[in-house]
Amino acid sequence: MLITICFCVFIFFILFQDLNVKDVPNFVAKLSETVKNDSNKITNSSATISTIVNILNNIANVSGNVSETVIKDVLNTVDLIIGDNVKHSWEFLNGKNNNASSQLLGSLETLTSGLGDIFSIETHSIILNRTTFNNSFNNNLNSNFSIEIPNTNIFNVFITTVTFPTLYYVMPTRNSTFDISVINNNNTNGNEAVEINNVINAAVVLVKINATIPNVTLSYRKLNSSLSQNPQCVFWNFTLFNDLGAWDDKGCTFVSDENDKVTCHCNHLTSFSILMSTDIPLQFVKVLDVITYIGVGISLASLVICLMIEGCVWKAITRNSTALMRHVSIINTALSLLIADICFIIGAAISKNPSENPEKNYKVPFGPCTTATFFMHFFYLALFFWMLVSALLLFYRTVMIFSHMPKSTMLAIGFSIGYGCPLIIAVITVAVTASGNGYIRENETCWLNWNTTKTLLAFVIPALTIVVINILIVIVVLFRIMRTGVGDTAQRDEKHTLVVIIRCVAILTPLFGLTWSLGVGTMLSPTTLGIHIAFAFFNSLQGFFILVFGTLFDSKIRAILSGQVATPNTSSNITRITSHDISTFRGMDLINWLRGRQYIYHISEAVNSSHSAACESFMHV
Ligand SMILES: *[C@@H]1O[C@H](CO)[C@@H](O)[C@H](O)[C@H]1NC(C)=O
Ligand SMILES: *[C@@H]1O[C@H](CO)[C@@H](O)[C@H](O)[C@H]1NC(C)=O
Ligand SMILES: *[C@@H]1O[C@H](CO)[C@@H](O)[C@H](O)[C@H]1NC(C)=O
Ligand SMILES: *[C@@H]1O[C@H](CO)[C@@H](O)[C@H](O)[C@H]1NC(C)=O
Ligand SMILES: *[C@@H]1O[C@H](CO)[C@@H](O)[C@H](O)[C@H]1NC(C)=O
Ligand SMILES: *[C@@H]1O[C@H](CO)[C@@H](O)[C@H](O)[C@H]1NC(C)=O
Ligand SMILES: *[C@@H]1O[C@H](CO)[C@@H](O)[C@H](O)[C@H]1NC(C)=O
Ligand SMILES: *[C@@H]1O[C@H](CO)[C@@H](O)[C@H](O)[C@H]1NC(C)=O
Ligand SMILES: *[C@@H]1O[C@H](CO)[C@@H](O)[C@H](O)[C@H]1NC(C)=O
Ligand SMILES: *[C@@H]1O[C@H](CO)[C@@H](O)[C@H](O)[C@H]1NC(C)=O
Ligand SMILES: *[C@@H]1O[C@H](CO)[C@@H](O)[C@H](O)[C@H]1NC(C)=O
Ligand SMILES: *[C@@H]1O[C@H](CO)[C@@H](O)[C@H](O)[C@H]1NC(C)=O
Repeated sequence: MLITICFCVFIFFILFQDLNVKDVPNFVAKLSETVKNDSNKITNSSATISTIVNILNNIANVSGNVSETVIKDVLNTVDLIIGDNVKHSWEFLNGKNNNASSQLLGSLETLTSGLGDIFSIETHSIILNRTTFNNSFNNNLNSNFSIEIPNTNIFNVFITTVTFPTLYYVMPTRNSTFDISVINNNNTNGNEAVEINNVINAAVVLVKINATIPNVTLSYRKLNSSLSQNPQCVFWNFTLFNDLGAWDDKGCTFVSDENDKVTCHCNHLTSFSILMSTDIPLQFVKVLDVITYIGVGISLASLVICLMIEGCVWKAITRNSTALMRHVSIINTALSLLIADICFIIGAAISKNPSENPEKNYKVPFGPCTTATFFMHFFYLALFFWMLVSALLLFYRTVMIFSHMPKSTMLAIGFSIGYGCPLIIAVITVAVTASGNGYIRENETCWLNWNTTKTLLAFVIPALTIVVINILIVIVVLFRIMRTGVGDTAQRDEKHTLVVIIRCVAILTPLFGLTWSLGVGTMLSPTTLGIHIAFAFFNSLQGFFILVFGTLFDSKIRAILSGQVATPNTSSNITRITSHDISTFRGMDLINWLRGRQYIYHISEAVNSSHSAACESFMHV
């Protein structure tokens, strides 16, 4: 079938050699119909597209005056070869040392300069408007583009504008400083699109005018509003790189990038558009994805292990209310992060990575993404508020030694702070911003908006405030301990718990704070790759940190897990535990532990009876 089409187009090509001006209208009508009838097959063949471009080029060469019907048929033909479905054929053509896309644009420029009457045409993806003006011209041609020509003192000027919102599928993104040897290199296969960190981030607009204009202001709506780096106001220069063509910025200056609109000044008129750098080079986006997914995987596994360990040693270690609260905090911290990470994975799955289609005006599915974002916001906040609960517990048990609160009151306060506060913040945030579409990032991943409404601050401000509070609490508590000791009234068992909490809060809080400060850094400085990598690394390892510093750092838990039973009054034994504690948490021990719960309970009973020794050993560490 494809061969038939090629043949058919080829016949046109042959017929065309004898074409004279009078035949052009008939010929383009036939061409348009053929292309339309077989558009499905044509779009898949880059050779056919190349042939069609040649034909259009020849039509442009012979046509002097162009009528409305001719340009209409031409635009209908072009319409079919510049859509989404032809993307791959154009990628193939542009990857080779081929100027088909440049020729297409050139033919259209020639044809529009031959137009006579005033009219406008709108096809599926092309808008042509031809009109006249006296002295000055100021027009919002459509929502994508506006043009302003100040006082020229020239009258009766004809102006034609052709807007191509989808030409970013067709035109290469190279600019005048591009290293052309990349595509001249014979080794590159056309399909491996040449990696350039530019995208065409606006409609391509062709402007033809029968006067010389010294100063014109062009204003474009950005296709992908999340891109903001290095806007370049450019026109297509057909002669660059030995007639291969490239975007050139001679005579055009960038003015502003506000409210999704990029404004440029130019001193001439041809085919214009906006080039923008992608935020992060594509190959690094893939590396970041890999780091993130591996890290989140490690996190999830760590959190599950952490919860299992806590579950198994629960009875043995929660005998006093301080220890109970500490473990409730750690379990809820781990649980919050576990659920938040699961929401993160769900969110990533429902918003396919938009960085892979930077030029597409991609929108995330609103409903599912809002839901995922809400739960992520809530549970990431809960993570911080449970850290706060740990710190407050520490503060309460070391500074306010003489007050005594019943367990149930402590638990009630803990859960109100740990889940109540985040719930209030998350609900208020979604209620205030969701109606105005300011909650999530419409065209990025599922997460709180930053670019337009800065909703992300509803997460960052509480989180970093808690980090500051926790650090202050740790400092106060350390001072207190240095002056008076952990407090004589506290039992030895509780001393152990308090020191573990200090270490846990003192290590985890700055780690979490650092992680999310890096997160803000990626917003403020989107092109600094190092920040992205550090953020992906720390962010995805939070679960691992909780396992290590929240659970495994507790010598008592380790003692239970490793089956080491310290006998009281034997200092040599104590030393042995100590060194063991520092050096390893052995896989074999974990396996032993997994093999028999009874054994564990037996051990934990033993540990109970010798907890003072374990505590001593801890104090020696
Ligand atoms: C295109 O298809 C229509 C019917 O679908 C047919 O009448 C017409 O002849 C076809 N044109 C060409 C050029 O094949
Ligand atoms: C076009 O090519 C793609 C793969 O490259 C194929 O999946 C699709 O079926 C083709 N379409 C037609 C109409 O041949
Ligand atoms: C353009 O037309 C002229 C005659 O009008 C012809 O000499 C020339 O070869 C044509 N160019 C192409 C590229 O077909
Ligand atoms: C184009 O049209 C003008 C009048 O509108 C006429 O004078 C001129 O000869 C035409 N040119 C060609 C090449 O047909
Ligand atoms: C590019 O197009 C021009 C005509 O516009 C043609 O003369 C030239 O040979 C082409 N160059 C390449 C490399 O295809
Ligand atoms: C074309 O431009 C003229 C002049 O600005 C305007 O009045 C007209 O509405 C436009 N036509 C279309 C279809 O946009
Ligand atoms: C421009 O001025 C001429 C007379 O000089 C007039 O005929 C024409 O209609 C005016 N065009 C516009 C768009 O006002
Ligand atoms: C533009 O072209 C029109 C029609 O061809 C003519 O009437 C007008 O004078 C030209 N304007 C200028 C500034 O050359
Ligand atoms: C690519 O191959 C062509 C012949 O196929 C040769 O003339 C040209 O020098 C080669 N270019 C490079 C950069 O190797
Ligand atoms: C071009 O016109 C704008 C106003 O539309 C003005 O601000 C700017 O200075 C002018 N530029 C030049 C080079 O004349
Ligand atoms: C296109 O680039 C060439 C080579 O740099 C330059 O000579 C020419 O002036 C440029 N064209 C325009 C319209 O600026
Ligand atoms: C061409 O694009 C690259 C990549 O975005 C950019 O670094 C360079 O400054 C651009 N060149 C010009 C002349 O704008």
